[in-house]
Amino acid sequence: MTTTNPRLPVTKAVVPAAGLGTRFLPATKATPKEMLPVVDKPAIQYVVEEAAAAGLSDILMVTGRNKRALEDHFDRAYELEELLSRKGDVDKLRRVRESVSLANMHYVRQGDPKGLGHAVLVAEQHVAGQPFAVLLGDDLIDPRDPLLSRMIEVQQELGGSVVALMEVDPAQIHLYGCAAVEANGFGPDVFHITDLVEKPERADAPSNYAVIGRYVLDPAVFEVLKKTEPGRGGEIQLTDALRTLATLSLAEGGQVHGVLFEGRRYDTGDRADYLRSIVRLASEREDLGPDFRSWLREFVSSEMQD
Ligand code: UTP
Repeated sequence: MTTTNPRLPVTKAVVPAAGLGTRFLPATKATPKEMLPVVDKPAIQYVVEEAAAAGLSDILMVTGRNKRALEDHFDRAYELEELLSRKGDVDKLRRVRESVSLANMHYVRQGDPKGLGHAVLVAEQHVAGQPFAVLLGDDLIDPRDPLLSRMIEVQQELGGSVVALMEVDPAQIHLYGCAAVEANGFGPDVFHITDLVEKPERADAPSNYAVIGRYVLDPAVFEVLKKTEPGRGGEIQLTDALRTLATLSLAEGGQVHGVLFEGRRYDTGDRADYLRSIVRLASEREDLGPDFRSWLREFVSSEMQD
């Protein structure tokens, strides 16, 4: 399929990381949940690496109170670097510096965390009139299963906005935004979205396609967000704004498409999924994996005997 109108390119990513992380209290009382380590890297670094790998070198992180560690993590650490270089510890020095050169990082504060839609709205000035990607700071997509580049490709071909969809057990759909979809002929993994509902009861869910934490949004979303009333949980929901966009024409900046993701995803904002992510990623590591896997085997077999 070819486009008739050349579209503005997607070059910027917004990473909302201003949420309170209440599911992880007390760990998140003074530390952002996005800084919790997944093996030995904070969750947020995986997210920034993913944006950079998709060619988005301009990243705006939406932060808030108690989130200074996020900025420090993507900045130089002179004392530490000096110490490591005096010791000649090249490997650790490389790991400390890795996060600094990934992308051009920018920061904006959300003030009151009034919801994901509100977090996106504070990015308006930075994003200025171009389609942009949104990557949630606690949602990890395995780099072996790239998703964002496919979403950007779909946005550039079809226009409008694009969300990522994952099939979930119907019993779990109440935990997610849920999409009503129809085929659009663009490919087996791409749908036209006709409606969206935030965290529906199982009986009211239009499908078992859950919206996960990657979006490519048309800038028309900002005008819609400004008019979006607080929804579920008293928060300004991005899902509600997307629902409005789905009803608008392409010329108005509307239309929403979904890209089906069937790869590995880790929701590090959820405690059980966070633990699973660490076990899985540690098992796969060349340095830690062999010992960790044999310990895990013994642990599981001793648990089975109890
Ligand atoms: P979540 O709903 O998972 O984050 O938002 P939360 O509110 O911090 O989590 P809990 O339920 O209290 O544990 C998904 C992403 O959106 C960001 C969060 O930081 C997270 O990365 N977010 C959420 C904001 O930036 N601002 C908000 O007002 C809400």
